[in-house]
Amino acid sequence: DQTGTRDRSAVALPRARKTTKVAVVGAGAVGSTMAYAALMRGSARTVALFDINKAKVEAEALDLAHGIQFMPMAQVVGSDDVAVCADADVIMVTAGAKQKPGQTRIDLAEATIGLVSKILPSLLEVAPDAIYVMVTNPVDIVTYASLKITGLPPTQLFGSGTVLDSSRLRYLIAEHAGVAVQNVHAYMAGEHGDSEIPLWSSATIGGVPLLDWSGIEGRGALTLSDRDEIAHEVVNSAYRIIEGKGATNYAVALAGTRIIEAVLNDENRVLPVSTLLDDYYGISDICLSVPTLVGRRGCTDRLAVPLSPVEIRGLQHSATALKAVARQFGY
Ligand code: LAC
Repeated sequence: DQTGTRDRSAVALPRARKTTKVAVVGAGAVGSTMAYAALMRGSARTVALFDINKAKVEAEALDLAHGIQFMPMAQVVGSDDVAVCADADVIMVTAGAKQKPGQTRIDLAEATIGLVSKILPSLLEVAPDAIYVMVTNPVDIVTYASLKITGLPPTQLFGSGTVLDSSRLRYLIAEHAGVAVQNVHAYMAGEHGDSEIPLWSSATIGGVPLLDWSGIEGRGALTLSDRDEIAHEVVNSAYRIIEGKGATNYAVALAGTRIIEAVLNDENRVLPVSTLLDDYYGISDICLSVPTLVGRRGCTDRLAVPLSPVEIRGLQHSATALKAVARQFGY
C-alpha cells in the first residue's frame, strides 16, 4: 500500500518445530548420570527426569539445570508427576532394584517386574508414541515382560541389552591390541548377564578379522587364552565395579545416550540391543541382544551376523536360560 508498510499478516511465520525430548524414568545413579550424559552430549533439546521420590528428582533436575550454561542448549525438567514425560520421543526406563554385591541381575527380576508393571501404563498414557528403552535389570526379562504388559510392537519397546557389554569388550580388546577402541568392532551377544557370549568370529580390528590378528610388531596378538580372559572380565565387570563403588553408572549411562541418539537422529545404527527375537538362528519368543538396526522407528532389523557353531550354541544357551526365568514369572 502507499504507506509502504508491508502487510505482515500475509507472511506465514515458520512454525516452531517440535524439539526432541528424552525422558529418563528413575533418578538414581544410572538415571541421573544418563540425564547428565545426554545433556553434555546434546543428545536431546529437552531432558526430563521422572522419579516417585519428589525431593530427589527435583534436586537432581535443579543441580543439572544450574549447569545449562556449560552445555549445549537444553531444557531440564524433573518431577514426581509422570506428566513430565509427556510427548517424549524416547523414554529410558532405569528405575528398578539396585544390584547389591554378590547379587546377580536375575535376582532383581521380581522387584523390577513389579515396578515396571506399575509405571508403564501411566507412561503410555502421556507418551503413547515414544520409543521405550528398558535399561533396568534384568534387562532382557524386563524387556520381554514390558512387551507383554504394554502390548507395544516389538519395534517400539526394546532393552539396552549388551550395548554396554560390547563397549567393555571393545575397550579390553583395544587395550590388549594397542589400537584405538574406535577401530575395534566386536559384539557381546545374548543375555545382558552371566550367559552372554563374545562374537569373536565376526570381530575386527581396523578391518583385520580379530581371529587373524597377529599384533603390531609382535605385540598384542590375541591368543585363545587372552580371548577367554577378556570374555571372563567382560562378564564379571559389573560385579567387580559394584564391589568397589556400590553400583555401575557411567558406562551404562553413556551406552544409553548412544541409543537415544540413534533414535532421535534416525541413525540406523547397528547396536546389540535386547529385542524380541523371531527365528534368529532358530531362537524365538525371548528378548536378548544381537546386532540390530536402531533408528527413529525403534529397533527394526536384526543383522544375520555370521556365527560360529560355538557362538550359535552359546546364543541358544542364553535364550534357554532366559526363557526359564521368564516362565518363572509367568511370561
Ligand atoms: C552393568 C549393569 C548396568 O552391567 O547391569 O553395569
